Amino acid sequence: MDDIGVDRSRVPRHVAIVMDGNGRWARRRGLKRTDGHAAGEEALFDTVEGGLEIGLPWLTVFAFSTENWRRPLDEVQFLMRFNESLLLRRRDDLHQRGVRVRFIGRRGGRVPQRVRRHIADTEAMTAGNRRMTLTFAFNYGGRAELLDATRAIAAEAAAGELSPSRINEKVVTRHLYAPDMPDPDVLVRTSGEYRISNFLLWQLAYAELVFTDVLWPDFRRTDLFAAVREYQGRDRRYGTVGE
Ligand code: IPE
Ligand code: IPE
Ligand code: MG
Repeated sequence: MDDIGVDRSRVPRHVAIVMDGNGRWARRRGLKRTDGHAAGEEALFDTVEGGLEIGLPWLTVFAFSTENWRRPLDEVQFLMRFNESLLLRRRDDLHQRGVRVRFIGRRGGRVPQRVRRHIADTEAMTAGNRRMTLTFAFNYGGRAELLDATRAIAAEAAAGELSPSRINEKVVTRHLYAPDMPDPDVLVRTSGEYRISNFLLWQLAYAELVFTDVLWPDFRRTDLFAAVREYQGRDRRYGTVGE
């Protein structure tokens, strides 16, 4: 146990976060919703720092869902530009810290060409880093991911490359956006909402769920540590009777 109460021998392998509450944070201050998104940047990078501090190897954050396209056009456009500029401003620093940056989600569709290119460049630039993998779920939906996997598996079966009787969990996992990503041990959702909102549906099967009322722009590494401590106090049984 260290001074922040985290047991360093049992740090989770993977923490996933639904970064929620930006709009409400802004509204409470009489600001625009988009000011709330901008304020979330400091929360994200303080959380990344905290993750590095405790040796967290995988951190995944929900940045834009396949359903978020239904928001007003100006907010969608802000989020596209904001995520792009955040990437360009932060990638050298992340690279220097040994962070591998990756994206999961549908690459095509309505994501602007330029954003796609910056995503690909950043992934290539940081591909060799191993200290932490920071995955942005962007234009991501859990159902879309499972549909994309299902289509790919069906195509292999139809081509005679795969027998339906051989489709197992490993085959499904191999067709997800990040097949090598371990399942999250902890899912954190901020802003007092208690739902998954189509995040990592397959991968969250046995995640420990941690909810906090903190609005995302106010989230800091201390909140990450609190979530890790809560996780460390849980008893994971995976359907067994436990120890
Ligand atoms: C989360 O904050 C960020 C995104 C979904 C992009 P919201 O924008 O959902 O904030 P609230 O939930 O309206 O407060
Ligand atoms: C989930 O938050 C998506 C992201 C954080 C990017 P939302 O705010 O979009 O989810 P709902 O609409 O409250 O379920
Ligand atoms: Mg929300």
